[in-house]
Amino acid sequence: MSTLLSPLSFAGLTLRNRIVMPPMFSGFATPRGEVTDRIVEYHRVRAAAGTSLIIVEHTYVHPWGRISDTQMGVHEDATIPGLARLAAAIKREGAVACLQLAHAGASTTVAVIGRAPLGPSSMLHPFEKDVDPAQATTPAEIRQVVAAFGDAAARARDAGFDAVEIHSAHGYLLSQFLSPLTNHREDEYGGNDENRRRLHVDVLAAVRERVGPTFPVFLRLGVHDEALGGLQINEAVRAAQVLVDRGVDLVDVSGGLQGSRPPVVVARGPGWFVPYAEAIKAAVRVPVLVTGGITDPGHADRIVREGRADLIGVGRAMLNDPTWAQSAIEQLRSA
Ligand SMILES: Cc1cc2nc3c(=O)[nH]c(=O)nc-3n(C[C@H](O)[C@H](O)[C@H](O)COP(=O)(O)O)c2cc1C
Repeated sequence: MSTLLSPLSFAGLTLRNRIVMPPMFSGFATPRGEVTDRIVEYHRVRAAAGTSLIIVEHTYVHPWGRISDTQMGVHEDATIPGLARLAAAIKREGAVACLQLAHAGASTTVAVIGRAPLGPSSMLHPFEKDVDPAQATTPAEIRQVVAAFGDAAARARDAGFDAVEIHSAHGYLLSQFLSPLTNHREDEYGGNDENRRRLHVDVLAAVRERVGPTFPVFLRLGVHDEALGGLQINEAVRAAQVLVDRGVDLVDVSGGLQGSRPPVVVARGPGWFVPYAEAIKAAVRVPVLVTGGITDPGHADRIVREGRADLIGVGRAMLNDPTWAQSAIEQLRSA
């Protein structure tokens, strides 16, 4: 039986336990999107505490997919030396280093990107406040987005990261394309389930083409919009199956258009996405990571022991206590 402290090997990686730092935007990057010493230290200390996998905060793959002036970028080669410093610091502490690749789509503003945000359709993001109306992404812009993810993945690999994670959760561009609530396209990227996940298939193919068949590629999938007419778990399960068949090595379960902490789900209590993770796990043959409200080491251990998920993300608890992993390991060893 696996426990929170069991190692896990998959896709050529070995994780020393099941404790994961999920991506958490720090706001410490330079205005050009470059890594700073604060970003390196923010991730390094959490790796040093014994966390097995550090998924570095969302980095924008293209300037139009940026969400903030203090966000890290992986949109140009000039970002590689800083990213290399970050990856090396995480790996020196014995953790696996993964970089999250993101495009904000309709979740941003003209002030940040200098043009109307991109969306699957012309619309205002239904759940984000303080964003500007989005314009429907043209076919040429879709090709640009796809290429940007591929290029970004290659930069992450060149910088020394062990893996990349494609961000399709929390109402960002890929999450918007997957959702029937925000995707009203009438071309091959909308209109039915298969078309709404076509951008994912294209992005994954571009990433695979650039990093090769064996480099680990993860997917953070927003599996439920928690909204009438929005994405439902059965459609997300199908998307996960299709994308795993096409080369995704780990599914990281989170929320869709309403983000990582939708009020109706949070009301379930700690581990609010665990039932969804179980549904995904039953359908795919790769490890499943779940995050959301998990703060107690015993609870995290039970989720793994009961086979409900393979890996546990601890977000805000690790933000507040950088040594969360160390305390959890000591507590479970002495139990
Ligand atoms: C400050 C902060 C920044 C976050 N940034 C990201 C991010 O860059 N990418 C992402 O996918 N999720 C992001 N999240 C969501 C977390 O990864 C996580 O899913 C969420 O906090 C719920 O887990 P928790 O209850 O353990 O904190 C962020 C959350 C917080 C609190």
